[in-house]
Amino acid sequence: MSALTRRDLLRSGLALSASTLAAGRLSRAHALLAAYPTAPSADAGIGIAPREHLLFDFGWKFFPGHATDPGRDLGFGKNQGDFAKSGDFEFASEKFDDSKWRPLNLPHDWAVELPFVHDDELQGHGYKPLGRRYPETSVGWYRRVFDIPKEDAGRRVSVLFDGAFRDALVFLNGYFIGRNDNGYAPFCFDLTDFLNYGGKNYLVVRMDASFGDGWFYEGAGIYRHVWLIKTDALHLKQWESYVRPKLRGNTATLRLGTIVRNESDAADGCRIRWQVFDPSGKAVAAADAGIMLVAPHSEMAVEGSDAAQILADVTLKNPALWSPQTPNLYSALITVDGTKIRDAERVTFGIRDIKWDADKGFFLNGKPVKIKGTCNHQDHAGVGAALPDRLQWYRVAVLKEMGSNAVRTSHNMPTPEWVEACDRLGMMMMCETRQMSSNPEGMAQLEAMVKRYRNSPSIILWSMGNEEWIMMKQPQSERVIADMVARAHELDPTRACTAAVNEAFETHFPDALDVMGFNYNLNVPDNWHQAHPKKACVGSETASTVATRGIYSTDKLRNWVSAYDMNYPGWAETAEQWWTYYAAREWLAGGFAWTGFDYRGEPTPYGWPSINSQFGIVDMCGFPKDDFYFYKAWWGSEPVVHLFPHWNWDEREGEPISVWVHSNLDSVELFLNGKSQGSQKVQPFKHLEWKVNYEPGVIEARGMKDGKIVVTEKRETTGDPVALRLTADRTEINADGEDLAILRVEGLDQDGRPVPTANNLISFNVTGEGRLIGVGNGDPNCQESDKESKRSLFNGLAQVIVQASRTPGTITVEAYTADWPGPKLPPVRVTITTKKVELRPSVG
Ligand code: GAL
Repeated sequence: MSALTRRDLLRSGLALSASTLAAGRLSRAHALLAAYPTAPSADAGIGIAPREHLLFDFGWKFFPGHATDPGRDLGFGKNQGDFAKSGDFEFASEKFDDSKWRPLNLPHDWAVELPFVHDDELQGHGYKPLGRRYPETSVGWYRRVFDIPKEDAGRRVSVLFDGAFRDALVFLNGYFIGRNDNGYAPFCFDLTDFLNYGGKNYLVVRMDASFGDGWFYEGAGIYRHVWLIKTDALHLKQWESYVRPKLRGNTATLRLGTIVRNESDAADGCRIRWQVFDPSGKAVAAADAGIMLVAPHSEMAVEGSDAAQILADVTLKNPALWSPQTPNLYSALITVDGTKIRDAERVTFGIRDIKWDADKGFFLNGKPVKIKGTCNHQDHAGVGAALPDRLQWYRVAVLKEMGSNAVRTSHNMPTPEWVEACDRLGMMMMCETRQMSSNPEGMAQLEAMVKRYRNSPSIILWSMGNEEWIMMKQPQSERVIADMVARAHELDPTRACTAAVNEAFETHFPDALDVMGFNYNLNVPDNWHQAHPKKACVGSETASTVATRGIYSTDKLRNWVSAYDMNYPGWAETAEQWWTYYAAREWLAGGFAWTGFDYRGEPTPYGWPSINSQFGIVDMCGFPKDDFYFYKAWWGSEPVVHLFPHWNWDEREGEPISVWVHSNLDSVELFLNGKSQGSQKVQPFKHLEWKVNYEPGVIEARGMKDGKIVVTEKRETTGDPVALRLTADRTEINADGEDLAILRVEGLDQDGRPVPTANNLISFNVTGEGRLIGVGNGDPNCQESDKESKRSLFNGLAQVIVQASRTPGTITVEAYTADWPGPKLPPVRVTITTKKVELRPSVG
């Protein structure tokens, strides 16, 4: 895949004006994305023969059940006898007729398909009718029929869910297989004993979203990937293979560890070997743990070692280090040999050195690095919580474009593809578990997270939880956190642990943490640091600045918050406030602003009809609000002059308008229709501001560095929209049933200029080898459907997400204004080529 060039755009018939390309905003983020191959799944590389790691996303059927009425829930729970006899679940058998069920592919979030309901109890979760009071929309059934060949007898076959919301009950061939409560940690069931070999198999999953795990939009259903994994009876144990690099000078020592399990009735011999490959794929080291005899139904050697862990060490001279600027990835191939290869998997890892210091903050590869981070939830416009992998890459690229170097997975274990996008694109991560508890469930979630992701170089910190203010003030919390931290260290001695603390600063809760995490409360860190001079500190959550994209005066009747960096709830702060504070203190390692992207739910400072947050630095689609450029100026490395607001204020002729500039240059001079409004010197981490009496025309900011004009930015008064522009992030995508084109829709005036106030309702028609999977516009108050093929522009912008089928060809996306009551705009079209690629192995 090549970067999006002007020639590509012309060839594809995209009407992208020279000025847009020159502005370069869109193309830079796209170029960053395009420079990397399409995201393979985090798990795709580890299905090495004879192991099979099959994507289990295609060809499911869905039925909305009922949480309280068995008559509308496949009769499930009608009498109390459902679990009385094994093998009696008819819905998971040949006898059941699912012909009326809706066919769909995973990932799938049914919450995003539901209407919004004005019930204030639902506010936090985004006004979707889920919960015990909405039994008719809180349960979903998924069914998949699949073949298992006769030859699989004797192998181990399991199903792995990367995460599903929530309370999963899994059935196969009439049998109950298992359950999983929480909505974020992966879960896996061994199906071997219950399969029909050489015949059809009936897998059914009942999801119940009546309970939530958090206080924000969480989605509903199987919203992450599912995998079918087949291995030899003698196999590597899941997520037990790790590579633990330690860097000394120019030499890295890699500690290699794994566990082999023998599921057969007889002791079995094998030899474990590792091969290490550098970022170019060249083999650079090897290790051999020798031959061992593994006891039947065990992970233990028949004689010799009394631990299941198999270990080896290798050293590498002058390794290529991982950093956000150089996301170099190594891999280790682990093989289990007998007379033939019995199992193998590939672990991707990076070599980097991290250190947290109480006086000097965070160090990466020996150099101090300030953490310029954002917290993020996991949903996106159009698709809810069910993000195709490509969207993870898009979102990371948007944040990188802002100069950000870190994300926090607030407040739950992330999906593997988000972690992988961070590993590959170069974004550090504070990885957080959902349940802060040392109870079996809390510990299981923590263990799954650490084992699953401990090879990922992007992860620099494990977070044990967020703002558990009830527990954090109780003595129990000291024991709970000490147990959690100890377990995380045991599984991963290389990383520090933190928790996001708000009210419990003066308790003993933080004692067990390696790194103290401050949420908000800028009046606390100085004193706390003095009292605890040996503890490293980070801003685990900061900012919570609120802003509506493209809005410049707060309007309480319309639930709009002005996008000047001025508005925040009582506990929070502006971008300027928090970053000025953190940047000035060397001992503070930096922090994570709440939030990078807007998310559904928590519509602070308003309620209904607002349905999503206003905290994002970018909106639900990833379109920047103005604070994006504050961060870009002070976090990024390029010269920035960002001028706002737009210049369409005809109703305010002659009135003073606040004109702001975010810039990192020496000074900025402002001009209105060619007349200077004065020049101002830039102070670090501060915006510039002029009051300008409005007259239509051109407002222009000229940024100077060393006496020269380096960047000029203009806003022009536009006319009404007379044309549409449709721009795809890529015009060639993979025909793999997964890849996406992410399209931006704009209204243009008679001179081809984007109209920043356009709000036309646009309809879409997607034909050919793809389909529309969601729409959005970043308006926190827009209750239009995410799934219909139409969307209003909000302050000039909307987004359409189109997914390729698995047949190579073309997709045509047409935008038109049939349903818009005003003057119709001529339709525009974009053609996207979907190219043949090797499909990742999947269940047929
Ligand atoms: C924090 C909390 C976040 C979010 C945020 C909104 O206290 O940790 O999850 O609710 O407030 O400002």
